[in-house]
Amino acid sequence: MPGIIKERLFTPGPTPLLMDAQISTLAAGNVHHRTEAFRKIMSETLTLLKYYYDTQNDVLIFASSGTGAMEGSLSNLLSPGERILVGTAGKFGERWLGLAKAYGIEAVIVESPYGQPVNIEALKEKLANEGPFRAVYIQATETSTAVMNNVRALGEAVKAYPETALVVDAITGLGTSDLRVEEWGLDIVIGGSQKAAMIPPGLAFVSVSEKAWGLIANSKLPRFYFDFAKERKNQAKGETAYTPATTLVIGLHAALEYIKKLGRENLIANAALLAEASRAGAAALGLKLFAQSSPANAATAIHAPEGMDSGAIVKELRTRFGAIIANGQGSMKGQIFRLAHLGYYDIADLFAIFAALEIALQKLGQKVELGSSVRAVQEVYLSHVK
Ligand SMILES: Cc1ncc(COP(=O)(O)O)c(C=O)c1O
Repeated sequence: MPGIIKERLFTPGPTPLLMDAQISTLAAGNVHHRTEAFRKIMSETLTLLKYYYDTQNDVLIFASSGTGAMEGSLSNLLSPGERILVGTAGKFGERWLGLAKAYGIEAVIVESPYGQPVNIEALKEKLANEGPFRAVYIQATETSTAVMNNVRALGEAVKAYPETALVVDAITGLGTSDLRVEEWGLDIVIGGSQKAAMIPPGLAFVSVSEKAWGLIANSKLPRFYFDFAKERKNQAKGETAYTPATTLVIGLHAALEYIKKLGRENLIANAALLAEASRAGAAALGLKLFAQSSPANAATAIHAPEGMDSGAIVKELRTRFGAIIANGQGSMKGQIFRLAHLGYYDIADLFAIFAALEIALQKLGQKVELGSSVRAVQEVYLSHVK
């Protein structure tokens, strides 16, 4: 392959890092965590996280990927013999079931087809007729299908049950969609660093409501590292129970300062614009969306042309252009490909990836009118931005 090929991420996590300056901040590894200087950074980062989440609830940071906080949301809330209600419509929803099984907790499931949002009415019906449930579990955005769920409607229903917490995996929902933590009654909200927070993988975040703290105080499942109450005490002082991922916390501090300057609403609007433009780009190429309704802002899942394995598109984009996009997961592998919009992506990224996609499709034998999808993306941009 002649010439320079830069590698660029177009995946829904990890996402592109904020900027080179931040990479050097992350490399500043010679920091001790039991110092006044680090306690200050940690405390400020937790305050900035509250801005990012738009909440006054406690927010905690753990050194783990997002799944660690998902596990903690189960081990901290439940006691043996209690049950949970889970809404699934994709691979990440199914992760709740694996976690429940690992802890011997019975999960009652509302399973919606891939490509659809979780059926909130069915969850409400089970909540009313098949309880009690200690907690209800859902994704804000199901990244595997690129569909957004109506957590607001679910939150309003769960509010009526004082002994039931609502747990929202917002790992790709934070920074891409409007989430009103207190107003909608979102008791535990989980995030991850390698998503819209623009830094590498390795940190999980969790916000915890007063209602959830009350339930946590009485829960009995075993827990050790992911002990929310223990971390609450420590993090209130800018400390962590165990060694924190200092370099990532410093990087997160820088990224959240950037996000605060940009404005949380503008970060969300950016993802929404890129998602709308991506849907227009796909339509211009005659490609169908995987989402049947409620397409996410975090990512767009697109069907490969009929008879083509989506892996061929992924491979062509990677080898020809160094552009790394995501294939489908599980049974969706080979059927769809996913373009991400969460975090540090801009409209010029989208011009580039659609131009590259057109060439990739043409090289794979599709009839493509060059420029057609780029034009559609440009038109969406011009319709929103002066
Ligand atoms: C919605 C959702 N939940 C959970 C996860 C798992 O997070 P992690 O890989 O950080 O453990 C992901 C990762 O992509 C995700 O998108």
